[in-house]
Amino acid sequence: GKKWTEVKDLTNELKDQVVLIRGRAQAIRAVGKKMAFLVVRERGFTVQCVLTVAQDVVSPQMVKFATSLSRESIVDIEGVISVPSQPITGASQQVEIQVRKLYSVNKAVPALPINIEDAARSELEIEKALQAGEQLVRVNQDTRLNFRVLDMRTPANQAIFRIQCQVENIFRQFLLSEGFVGIHTPKLIAGSSEGGSAVFRFDYKGTPACLAQSPQLHKQMAICGDFGRVFEVGPVFRAEDSFTHRHLCEFTGLDVEMEIKEHYSEVMDIVDRLFVTMFDGLNEKCSKELEAINRQYPFEKLKYLRKTLRLTFEEGVQMLKEAGVEIDPFGDLNTESERKLGQLVLEKYGTEFYILHRYPLAVRPFYTMPCHDNPKYSNSFDVFIRGEEIISGAQRVHVPELLTERAQAVGIDVKTISTYIDSFRYGAPPHGGFGVGLERVVMLFCALNNIRKTSLFPRDPQRITP
Ligand code: 4AD
Repeated sequence: GKKWTEVKDLTNELKDQVVLIRGRAQAIRAVGKKMAFLVVRERGFTVQCVLTVAQDVVSPQMVKFATSLSRESIVDIEGVISVPSQPITGASQQVEIQVRKLYSVNKAVPALPINIEDAARSELEIEKALQAGEQLVRVNQDTRLNFRVLDMRTPANQAIFRIQCQVENIFRQFLLSEGFVGIHTPKLIAGSSEGGSAVFRFDYKGTPACLAQSPQLHKQMAICGDFGRVFEVGPVFRAEDSFTHRHLCEFTGLDVEMEIKEHYSEVMDIVDRLFVTMFDGLNEKCSKELEAINRQYPFEKLKYLRKTLRLTFEEGVQMLKEAGVEIDPFGDLNTESERKLGQLVLEKYGTEFYILHRYPLAVRPFYTMPCHDNPKYSNSFDVFIRGEEIISGAQRVHVPELLTERAQAVGIDVKTISTYIDSFRYGAPPHGGFGVGLERVVMLFCALNNIRKTSLFPRDPQRITP
């Protein structure tokens, strides 16, 4: 086979060498009949390719052919690397290719619904371009999602999904190194796993069934099955009614469940070390990706402590109260008060990542363990990035009688979860765990404003295609 080079690897070191690349024709510009510039893009990196008519190498027909290519067509280019004296502005790579051969591998249609260069501009660049009187179409979210395969090609989107992959990878690696076992639980289940109305129901060969709202019940059953520590990466389905910047109807859950020896803080210890490892790893391994996102959606690096701050719900309520926000000490925090508390925590402790624990029992799911010393509270926690929830977790009730009582108290038909409750009758250790929303972690780590940006093909109450 031939030797191929990737666009991202085209640097000064290759000066005067012949390279062969494959990419997309992002922009094509003719200069008279004897010259053409072609910007070729591969995985978000771009290089300027120059065609100049020269005896035996580039014919006028070849220049004409180049200028007739439609944008986003796949092309193969062979040429010599040169280093221009002026910095290159229209491409990421600071070298040019003096083209010798050009092949069209597969053509794109001439009129594309999205112009990738426009889709890749930051808000500031758009403002400037508009002020300068440039003709430009702002690519809105719906258009992007309707033509997602085109939208995916922008440098920022290329970076977002590489970061998402790293989040998942670090999650797995860290937990494997801590003795956890990766499992897969069913997504077609008989009863709802989190309660409430946000559940997709369907008919399972004549039996009413649900799409799993979380792996909650089955990951606990794996603990009853003596796996000790388990994790899962898998789809989670929520029939959300509300159309918000942070709710999807299908997202990827990163779930953990583990035996607890003495205290639910053992679960928070895992959260703490997992996420410090994750943030360090992302900053270290994904600096190019973070830069690419920053160019289109400027943001400040996440501030986090080496040891994650833990506040009790009561302390949080007190901080809000002192700031003039009155909330029900046994109610839940709403989005606004979570944001506000995030600001207060940042001011006081200098972190945008923290754990809030000992929530009121009444606002937590039925399987949550009440506090030993005060059953109005529970052994549970939420975790926040930049004032928004990314995790909820808790110690679970492992005593079947109490579990039945708790389920009934919140109106769950215990018949639908009888196999789950029975699991605790055969010897069940104290245990707890947590669930992380993958798309939310990426969204908030990069301070993006909408969860649809971090889901490859988002599913929300108004969208089930493409
Ligand atoms: O807070 P949730 O509903 O908790 C559970 O599912 C529990 N079983 C977890 C546990 O082990 N105790 O969901 C967990 C996380 C949330 O913190 C959030 O990050 C994410 O899942 N999440 C969503 N992400 C996108 N769209 C939605 N509709 C989400 N609902 C929850």
